[in-house]
Amino acid sequence: MAKVKIAATADVSADKVLKTSANGQSLIVAKVGDKYCAIANKCPHFGLPLAKGKFENGVITCPFHGSKFEVCTGKSTEWVDSFVGIPMPDFAKKAIAMGKAPTDVKSFTVSQEGSDLFVEV
Ligand code: FES
Repeated sequence: MAKVKIAATADVSADKVLKTSANGQSLIVAKVGDKYCAIANKCPHFGLPLAKGKFENGVITCPFHGSKFEVCTGKSTEWVDSFVGIPMPDFAKKAIAMGKAPTDVKSFTVSQEGSDLFVEV
């Protein structure tokens, strides 16, 4: 495991996520309350990027099929809810889920040294 700088605190605001990387792995970083959090920028549904999703109250919504994840834990709070922002009926949700069960996103513990943020990867 290596400690890798992912951002400066000034780069991370409370109202949006910051796309960054650590050792070639794409991450998103967010500030939730006083805490800095990071998860993989990879939706566990189809492996598509989360960074352009809506971010609100510590939760990011996948821009493709609406799955929601807590950015401080990676926990899945909703699974395949829509198609590019358009709500779907339950039968369509099941079809688009393609049998994949709700899965959490990999999360990373963020440490702060002065004005820099780090993760262990
Ligand atoms: S790729 Fe994210 S919910 Fe489908």
